[in-house]
Amino acid sequence: MRLTVFDLLKGEKKGQEVQLKGWVRTFRAKRFIAINDGSTINNIQCVVDFENTDETLLKRINTGAALSIKGILEESQGKGQTLEVKVSDLEILGDSNPEEFPIQPKKHSFEFLREQAHLRIRTNTFSAVMRLRSALSFAVHQYFTKNGFYNFHAPIITGSDAEGAGEMFGVTNFDLDNTPKTEDGKVDFSQDFFGKQTNLTVSGQLEAETYAMALGKVYTFGPTFRAENSNTTRHLAEFWMIEPEVAFNDLSDNMDLAEDFIQEVIKYVLENCKDDLAFLDARLTKEESTKPTAQRSEMSLLEKLKFVTDNNFKRVTYTEAIDILRNCKPNKKKKFQYIINEWGADLQSEHERYLVEKHFKSPVILFDYPANIKAFYMRMNEDGKTVRAMDVLFPGIGEIVGGSQREERLDVLKEKMKALDVDEKELWWYLDTRKFGTAVHSGFGLGFERLVLFVTGMSNIRDVIPFPRTPQNAEF
Ligand code: 4AD
Ligand code: MG
Repeated sequence: MRLTVFDLLKGEKKGQEVQLKGWVRTFRAKRFIAINDGSTINNIQCVVDFENTDETLLKRINTGAALSIKGILEESQGKGQTLEVKVSDLEILGDSNPEEFPIQPKKHSFEFLREQAHLRIRTNTFSAVMRLRSALSFAVHQYFTKNGFYNFHAPIITGSDAEGAGEMFGVTNFDLDNTPKTEDGKVDFSQDFFGKQTNLTVSGQLEAETYAMALGKVYTFGPTFRAENSNTTRHLAEFWMIEPEVAFNDLSDNMDLAEDFIQEVIKYVLENCKDDLAFLDARLTKEESTKPTAQRSEMSLLEKLKFVTDNNFKRVTYTEAIDILRNCKPNKKKKFQYIINEWGADLQSEHERYLVEKHFKSPVILFDYPANIKAFYMRMNEDGKTVRAMDVLFPGIGEIVGGSQREERLDVLKEKMKALDVDEKELWWYLDTRKFGTAVHSGFGLGFERLVLFVTGMSNIRDVIPFPRTPQNAEF
């Protein structure tokens, strides 16, 4: 029976004939083939008896080729591995022309590999990142299932703009060169597929709220889409978001949930993805060593992860944060791109990272933001100025979670929608939750790729999703 490299390396089949299939990573001295099959970061060394092997066959053992191998699993004589396969039977399943295969056994830049996103997964770094991404996804579902949440599939096509930021991709089946028009010359969406204007969802929250008001605890985990033209290392046009929503939770419960959730999923990968994390830890340490000392991270990747699982997140109000920022050195010396002068300013990533990395040196939960920089659905505080919003800020990342306690009072919500020009008619069903059995409830959204970025120590969000969608780029 064919075994994976992961299973072979457990050593239980030592001394026996085994069969494996995988791709060549390297072939040296006409004898040693390093085979990887994706089951683990580790390769298995397969040793060929080159004197008794046809020369034309040996020539076809090139990086990237797919092989089928039979042989005895033995203790290795060489350094660097404990087990190896002494090859008795070797078949080339698929050749790989060394002149053409772009992924050679040498260091490639991440920029180059992004252009080869279909093949970059054949490298150690990307296979480690994507295995971790998969494990994190499992840990998310496991965490919520264990804690009594139901997974809720939010619609992808919707008529509403939950965040009110107008950053939506339209969905239509109109012939764009020939769209029906209304009498006043505008596009007549009543004739479109859904009989109204629709877009790809920016968040499943509003629909999730309706489910939380019946199932109690729900969460979404699906793709979301934002047409924000921000070409940064933290933004994607298509990203995956996890949005729990809990009836009867207030903002403080919401913070507890966010903190516990993030700590638990990180603990899961620390426990279950040791080889991949060890590889990425070493990769990052190497990369850091090329930077000037002052710019180097004080902690290794594994230390950063343990720091997050072992320490409480600091909880700080927006007002306190503004005081800190107004008086901090980079603000006074005008080192920030956006200078903080007044209460009410929207925080940029540079400010968030200052708070986390320089001031508190810990993950931070900022809460009670000014109402006018946040979405319409957040609960108004008694001061009439701030809302029960919270953002979780992480080192190296900035905002990883955005959430809030929701406005559960129908009259206050309606007033807010009017003030912000949110169409009541479009959201009639959302308002119904406030008419029939309304109650305090809260939730948040975690950007999955930002979590994967943090856990893998990668520095560009394009490198933690298989096929990134960003402005001017939807290849593959
Ligand atoms: O803060 P945001 O916009 O919050 C919401 O969408 C709420 N409806 C969530 C809720 O309360 N249920 O987005 C939530 C998170 C951000 O903190 C960030 O991690 C991530 O989603 N995010 C992005 N990730 C990658 N690319 C983008 N363009 C992102 N925009 C937001
Ligand atoms: Mg946000």
